[in-house]
Amino acid sequence: MKLTRRYRFSASHRLDTPALSVEQNRKLYGKCNNPYGHGHDYVLDVTVAGWPDESGQIVGREALDRLVGERILARFDHRNLNMDIAELRGAVPTTENLAVAIDKALRDGWPLPARLDRVRISETERNIFELEAQRSEIKP
Ligand code: NI
Repeated sequence: MKLTRRYRFSASHRLDTPALSVEQNRKLYGKCNNPYGHGHDYVLDVTVAGWPDESGQIVGREALDRLVGERILARFDHRNLNMDIAELRGAVPTTENLAVAIDKALRDGWPLPARLDRVRISETERNIFELEAQRSEIKP
Protein backbone atom coordinates (compact mmCIF):
# COMPACT_ATOMS: atom_id res chain seq x y z
CA MET A 1 0.00 0.00 0.00
CA LYS A 2 1.22 3.47 -0.77
CA LEU A 3 0.66 6.89 0.74
CA THR A 4 1.55 10.07 -1.08
CA ARG A 5 1.84 13.21 0.99
CA ARG A 6 2.06 16.60 -0.73
CA TYR A 7 4.26 19.52 0.27
CA ARG A 8 4.95 22.91 -1.28
CA PHE A 9 7.90 25.23 -1.30
CA SER A 10 9.07 28.19 -3.32
CA ALA A 11 12.58 28.82 -4.53
CA SER A 12 14.45 30.79 -7.15
CA HIS A 13 17.09 29.71 -9.61
CA ARG A 14 18.92 30.56 -12.78
CA LEU A 15 19.91 27.94 -15.34
CA ASP A 16 23.41 28.65 -16.56
CA THR A 17 26.57 26.63 -16.99
CA PRO A 18 30.11 28.03 -17.15
CA ALA A 19 30.88 25.27 -19.65
CA LEU A 20 29.01 27.22 -22.34
CA SER A 21 29.23 30.72 -23.76
CA VAL A 22 26.73 33.44 -22.91
CA GLU A 23 25.03 32.92 -26.25
CA GLN A 24 24.97 29.12 -25.94
CA ASN A 25 23.49 29.35 -22.44
CA ARG A 26 20.80 31.71 -23.69
CA LYS A 27 19.97 29.35 -26.54
CA LEU A 28 19.95 26.22 -24.35
CA TYR A 29 18.00 27.54 -21.37
CA GLY A 30 15.93 30.33 -22.93
CA LYS A 31 14.27 32.63 -20.43
CA CYS A 32 15.42 30.34 -17.61
CA ASN A 33 18.85 31.87 -18.32
CA ASN A 34 17.72 35.43 -17.53
CA PRO A 35 20.57 36.97 -15.51
CA TYR A 36 18.79 37.65 -12.23
CA GLY A 37 16.84 34.40 -11.98
CA HIS A 38 13.17 33.62 -11.42
CA GLY A 39 11.05 31.69 -8.96
CA HIS A 40 8.94 28.56 -8.92
CA ASP A 41 6.26 27.24 -6.59
CA TYR A 42 7.35 23.63 -6.39
CA VAL A 43 5.02 20.82 -5.44
CA LEU A 44 6.77 17.90 -3.76
CA ASP A 45 4.99 14.55 -3.51
CA VAL A 46 6.61 12.04 -1.20
CA THR A 47 5.32 8.48 -1.53
CA VAL A 48 5.93 5.83 1.11
CA ALA A 49 5.06 2.16 0.83
CA GLY A 50 4.23 -0.33 3.52
CA TRP A 51 1.39 -1.99 5.35
CA PRO A 52 -0.75 -0.43 8.07
CA ASP A 53 0.52 -1.07 11.60
CA GLU A 54 -1.56 -1.38 14.81
CA SER A 55 -2.47 2.30 14.42
CA GLY A 56 -3.97 1.54 11.03
CA GLN A 57 -1.44 3.74 9.25
CA ILE A 58 1.47 3.06 6.89
CA VAL A 59 3.36 5.87 8.54
CA GLY A 60 2.55 8.49 11.15
CA ARG A 61 1.71 11.70 9.29
CA GLU A 62 3.42 13.81 11.93
CA ALA A 63 6.64 11.84 11.70
CA LEU A 64 6.69 12.14 7.91
CA ASP A 65 5.85 15.85 8.04
CA ARG A 66 8.59 16.46 10.59
CA LEU A 67 11.13 14.62 8.44
CA VAL A 68 10.23 16.43 5.22
CA GLY A 69 10.01 19.70 7.12
CA GLU A 70 13.47 19.39 8.61
CA ARG A 71 15.31 17.85 5.68
CA ILE A 72 13.62 19.65 2.78
CA LEU A 73 11.28 22.54 3.53
CA ALA A 74 13.51 24.22 6.12
CA ARG A 75 16.45 24.04 3.73
CA PHE A 76 14.86 24.72 0.35
CA ASP A 77 11.88 27.00 0.93
CA HIS A 78 12.45 30.64 -0.04
CA ARG A 79 16.04 29.91 -1.03
CA ASN A 80 18.13 30.55 -4.07
CA LEU A 81 18.97 27.12 -5.47
CA ASN A 82 22.16 28.38 -7.13
CA MET A 83 23.57 29.84 -3.92
CA ASP A 84 22.00 28.31 -0.84
CA ILE A 85 22.03 24.54 -1.36
CA ALA A 86 25.38 22.83 -0.83
CA GLU A 87 24.46 19.77 -2.91
CA LEU A 88 23.65 21.93 -5.92
CA ARG A 89 26.87 23.96 -5.83
CA GLY A 90 28.58 23.63 -9.16
CA ALA A 91 25.51 21.95 -10.69
CA VAL A 92 22.88 23.58 -12.86
CA PRO A 93 19.81 23.75 -10.59
CA THR A 94 17.41 22.18 -13.04
CA THR A 95 14.49 20.37 -11.48
CA GLU A 96 16.15 17.09 -12.50
CA ASN A 97 19.12 17.95 -10.30
CA LEU A 98 16.83 19.32 -7.60
CA ALA A 99 14.90 16.02 -7.57
CA VAL A 100 18.14 14.07 -7.11
CA ALA A 101 19.22 16.35 -4.24
CA ILE A 102 15.85 16.04 -2.51
CA ASP A 103 15.69 12.29 -3.02
CA LYS A 104 19.15 11.89 -1.52
CA ALA A 105 18.40 14.20 1.42
CA LEU A 106 15.35 12.10 2.26
CA ARG A 107 16.85 8.69 1.56
CA ASP A 108 20.11 9.00 3.52
CA GLY A 109 19.40 7.49 6.92
CA TRP A 110 15.66 7.27 6.24
CA PRO A 111 14.31 6.66 9.77
CA LEU A 112 10.70 5.66 9.22
CA PRO A 113 9.35 2.09 9.14
CA ALA A 114 7.59 2.57 5.78
CA ARG A 115 9.81 2.44 2.70
CA LEU A 116 10.47 5.63 0.73
CA ASP A 117 8.96 4.66 -2.61
CA ARG A 118 8.99 7.75 -4.78
CA VAL A 119 9.90 11.43 -4.86
CA ARG A 120 7.97 13.49 -7.37
CA ILE A 121 8.47 17.19 -7.92
CA SER A 122 6.46 19.52 -10.10
CA GLU A 123 8.16 22.68 -11.26
CA THR A 124 5.17 23.78 -13.33
CA GLU A 125 1.98 22.08 -14.42
CA ARG A 126 3.86 20.81 -17.45
CA ASN A 127 7.21 19.87 -15.89
CA ILE A 128 7.00 16.95 -13.48
CA PHE A 129 9.94 14.79 -12.44
CA GLU A 130 10.06 11.63 -10.39
CA LEU A 131 12.57 9.28 -8.88
CA GLU A 132 11.45 5.83 -7.89
CA ALA A 133 13.21 3.76 -5.27
CA GLN A 134 15.05 1.45 -7.63
CA ARG A 135 16.04 4.33 -9.91
CA SER A 136 17.40 6.60 -7.23
CA GLU A 137 20.83 4.98 -7.24
CA ILE A 138 21.43 6.14 -10.79
CA LYS A 139 23.52 9.25 -10.62
CA PRO A 140 23.18 12.00 -13.22
NI1 NI B 1 12.94 27.86 -13.81
